[in-house]
Amino acid sequence: MKRILVTGGAGFIGSNYINHILKERDDYFIVNLDKLTYAGNLENLKESENNPNYCFVKGDITNSELVEYLFKKYEIKYVINFAAESHVDRSILGSEIFYRTNVIGTNVLLETARRHEVQKFLQISTDEVYGSLGDEGLFTELTNLSPNSPYSSSKAGADMMALAFYHTYGMPVSVTRCSNNYGPFQFPEKLIPLMIINALNNKNLPVYGDGMNVRDWIYVIDHNKAVDLVFEKGKSGEVYNIGANNEMPNIDIIKLILQILGKPETLIHYVKDRPGHDRRYAIDASKIENELGWKPSFNFETAIDYTIKWYLENQKWWERIISGDYQKYYSIQYSAK
Ligand code: NAD
Ligand code: DAU
Repeated sequence: MKRILVTGGAGFIGSNYINHILKERDDYFIVNLDKLTYAGNLENLKESENNPNYCFVKGDITNSELVEYLFKKYEIKYVINFAAESHVDRSILGSEIFYRTNVIGTNVLLETARRHEVQKFLQISTDEVYGSLGDEGLFTELTNLSPNSPYSSSKAGADMMALAFYHTYGMPVSVTRCSNNYGPFQFPEKLIPLMIINALNNKNLPVYGDGMNVRDWIYVIDHNKAVDLVFEKGKSGEVYNIGANNEMPNIDIIKLILQILGKPETLIHYVKDRPGHDRRYAIDASKIENELGWKPSFNFETAIDYTIKWYLENQKWWERIISGDYQKYYSIQYSAK
């Protein structure tokens, strides 16, 4: 049995990972450590909560006593660090919590993992650490890091620290850098769910700048299959880019969402640009394809349809979030425990 500490497993990508991997593998025991910030939601994990190979702990990765206690109690030998403050716009409004969680929190996990001689530490990172591309070219693992937002600079710091633990202490660390994810359970502050929900509510769709910023979209399950592969087979000290070769300008995605939902383009409203807005991200994923045999299995047309359908069918999930009811749900759920 692999005894794995998964952090941030109540968020979008982490919960999809846990729900997916517990169906795939019966030799994993997962301890999910999550602070349940505004972005963490235990409703995402309903299908996993009674699995005997899973347990949830509410707590902060910056709490070194708690992390040490969990390593001892559960005899943790593997770490997958999804936990982060993840939203660029929030990092622009206030950066402190980003450096606290993403940098200090990762340091606490690395130091504890070092003491306990873990067999793998997988740091989940992002293509945003590379900065912004012009019209041409792709990010490879050799592209210089040039992060532009408080969020991406905190992630770059965490990447460098994780790799330093490999070089200095020989810790078996790998880093993944993925492009923009979409799919079920994504918090409605991010582009795709925000636009779906606003369109369903006949509210304005706020487009930053000229709408021509480009992102490279990947379905969350494809990301998590790559995470699993790097976790199982990735080399220590190595970085793996993950992307599905699906670049799109924001405005094209927004128009597609409106078209699928049968809503008018008059809902589109151009607003003030995001400060320091990166123009274009695009991933070269040939290393993980050639070395580990990964390939994305979902195409955008099918997976965006499925994602929109999911938000239509799970209205209660996002209504509770946008009305603030999730906080009430949480205190009812835990007040007696
Ligand atoms: P998310 O914001 O949906 O989830 C983050 C989770 O981390 C939440 O459950 C939150 O409660 C938890 N968390 C935050 N601070 C914590 C702390 N101090 N201690 C314990 N738990 C804490 O984020 P996401 O979109 O699922 O992203 C997950 C990871 O993947 C992040 O590291 C992010 O940088 C990375 N990533 C995201 C994308 C994307 O497109 N969303 C792409 C590439 C990489
Ligand atoms: O590239 C990976 C990154 O993708 C992850 O590391 C981050 O955690 C994740 O949040 C995401 O960052 P982005 O800033 O690219 O995602 P976001 O959904 O916030 O924005 C996508 C694009 O849409 C970006 O160009 C800004 C634009 N946008 C976003 C919002 C929320 C708008 O035009 N209007 C909006 O209201």
